[in-house]
Amino acid sequence: MNITVFGTGYVGLVAGVCFADAGHHVICADIDKNKIEKLNKGTPTFFEPGLEDYLKKGLKKKTLTFTTQLEEAVYKSKIIFIAVGTPQDPNGKADLTYIFNVVGTIVDNANEEKTIIMKSTVPVGTHKKIEKLLKKSKFPLHYVSNPEFLREGKAVEDFLKPERVVLGGTHKASIETLKGLYKPFLSLDRPILTMTQASAEMAKYACNTYLATRISFINEMANLSERLGANIKDVKKVMTHDKRIGHRFLYPGVGYGGSCFPKDVSALIHTADESDCDLKILKATHQTNEAQKLILFYKVLKYFLGELKGKKITLWGISFKPHTDDIREAPSVVIIQKLLKEKAHVSTYDPIAQDNLKKDFGDCIEYANDPYEALHNSEALLILTEWNEFRTPDFSLMKEKMKNPALFDGRNIYERKTIEKCGFYYEGIGT
Ligand SMILES: NC(=O)c1ccc[n+]([C@@H]2O[C@H](COP(=O)([O-])OP(=O)(O)OC[C@H]3O[C@@H](n4cnc5c(N)ncnc54)[C@H](O)[C@@H]3O)[C@@H](O)[C@H]2O)c1
Repeated sequence: MNITVFGTGYVGLVAGVCFADAGHHVICADIDKNKIEKLNKGTPTFFEPGLEDYLKKGLKKKTLTFTTQLEEAVYKSKIIFIAVGTPQDPNGKADLTYIFNVVGTIVDNANEEKTIIMKSTVPVGTHKKIEKLLKKSKFPLHYVSNPEFLREGKAVEDFLKPERVVLGGTHKASIETLKGLYKPFLSLDRPILTMTQASAEMAKYACNTYLATRISFINEMANLSERLGANIKDVKKVMTHDKRIGHRFLYPGVGYGGSCFPKDVSALIHTADESDCDLKILKATHQTNEAQKLILFYKVLKYFLGELKGKKITLWGISFKPHTDDIREAPSVVIIQKLLKEKAHVSTYDPIAQDNLKKDFGDCIEYANDPYEALHNSEALLILTEWNEFRTPDFSLMKEKMKNPALFDGRNIYERKTIEKCGFYYEGIGT
């Protein structure tokens, strides 16, 4: 089957290489010439475990092509996925400019009956606007909402083995075609769930905003535990042994980031406000998270009695979570901004996200090639991403390198007793 995917970001590129690996001929189209040039050479434009192998395999087998020729990408396939960005506008609303640009290109260039599949996360009700536009084409263009649930850092694995596939649409033949397309990726206990477009759109937001809420909830419990002399690690153990609660997305820390949770929480609040529905829990989730991103900064500021000028502060971990180089909405970014405002010297180490950070901060901060090098003469270390390589470091070497051994653990990866025994001042989140 010929498949076109518009957008070669985290979702589009992963979908493209995985469909190509399943034997389809996939055309990945993007407006970004640099990205397309790199991808045509087999170089991934972001870090994602396993991606490079699939990319190279698809190019070698010639089942995968990359183009900036958007018109050609439309007329060559009957199946067209849209996976372009839906960023947040200044009011917190989802900005659908990229989506409508693609829809316009499809409508203007359709040469036969086609199925248009929405993989991007779009506000509930967007399908109505798009279906209205698709009707302007001379050919029947059927619309299916197919939200994507992959996790950055595990994107390829998630795409190849999704927990469920959601298809929202009314055109039976299109739904059947998509069921066939996804079947090879699904086992018996992993279903294809069919529903209306609105339910599919809503389901995506419900999942992401619920997970974000769990994170803000546990962060509030951690902050309260700290004030009252309880230890959130023990509290959490009790919670997670309760099967009704489970253990996932209950890790206290410096808040959630990334390209999905923050913008999806804001977008759903916005959609609800427009329908006169006040999502109080989500508004609190968002507020708690904004404050949580700075919690470590204020701990450091308090430790240095409000004076950070000239002090070297080191950050281990920049990406919003491990196994990705994505720094969009990462807590590290707001913490660096605050530290620079206080005229601190900022030194950073991250195994893969440094290049993205350089685009934002240039030579305003230091980028070390090694975690210990980043600590040279440092007066405080902040752990912001729980990369495995930070879990069992050489504490003696760390202490040797640092001018002042103070450790602020934003991901609770260390045990207070161990760290204090090594001679460090230690603060975690809720411990
Ligand atoms: N990143 C994730 O983990 C994830 C997971 C599930 C869903 N989503 C959703 O999927 C969508 C895409 O997310 P992403 O992280 O892959 O985005 P991204 O920003 O990484 O990539 C989007 C790509 O679309 C391209 N683009 C923009 N306009 C275009 C056009 N007219 N034609 C062709 N390409 C165009 C951009 O150049 C860019 O390469 C968003 O709605 C997001 O919320 C993301």
